[in-house]
Amino acid sequence: QPHQPLAGMKMMITAGPTREALDPVRYLSNHSSGKMGYAIAASAAQMGAEVTLVSGPVALQAPTGVQLLRVESAAEMHHAVMTTAVQQDIFVACAAVADYRPEAVADCKIKKDNSEMSIRLVRNPDILADVAALNSGPFTVGFAAETHDVETYAIGKLQRKGLDMIAANDVSDSSIGFNSDDNALTLYWTDGKTELPATSKQQLAAQLLEQINHRYRIKQ
Ligand code: C5P
Repeated sequence: QPHQPLAGMKMMITAGPTREALDPVRYLSNHSSGKMGYAIAASAAQMGAEVTLVSGPVALQAPTGVQLLRVESAAEMHHAVMTTAVQQDIFVACAAVADYRPEAVADCKIKKDNSEMSIRLVRNPDILADVAALNSGPFTVGFAAETHDVETYAIGKLQRKGLDMIAANDVSDSSIGFNSDDNALTLYWTDGKTELPATSKQQLAAQLLEQINHRYRIKQ
């Protein structure tokens, strides 16, 4: 039996991209592989947590011992998360949620009639900010994937979204981050920070969970 520091804890994790439909055959999305979120879910389950993984469309198997809820759009992910968010002890937002969605989804395939076309987009709900704003909600952890000024943007997000912790990574380095098997993170909380150097997403997930567990216990 492995060490189970998260035994008795309920943890929800979002992972992967979202798909925002344009018409019955097209969507807007992004390059998230879901690997980091799935690694965190697998690791949390091994450490004894009761894990719900809310995942956008990815080419990954459900980790052992994890309850997997598959969703497509940001709106669906928001609904799936908010339904049980208040019952969770820890919420980790790893999903690369589309910031905008098409204002309207066409009922039929859009035809290429004109030389130009435009699509009006509207903002999606911020799932992480909404969970962080809950009364007696879970300990909330966000991710900040940035190409520049990583620390400034990460701390800005921590404060603006009212998070307990943020995990920042520099996605301008293609050897780590999106689609890669490796990653490196810098963790920030209100009064501290720590570096988790480049390693496999499995190793990093376990290290991240140890840090989350430590900060969570301090907050109780
Ligand atoms: O503001 P930004 O999208 O960079 O914030 C990233 C963090 O917020 C990630 O943890 C991501 O999962 C979460 N997020 C979210 N819902 C959104 C946008 C981002 O949960 N609509």
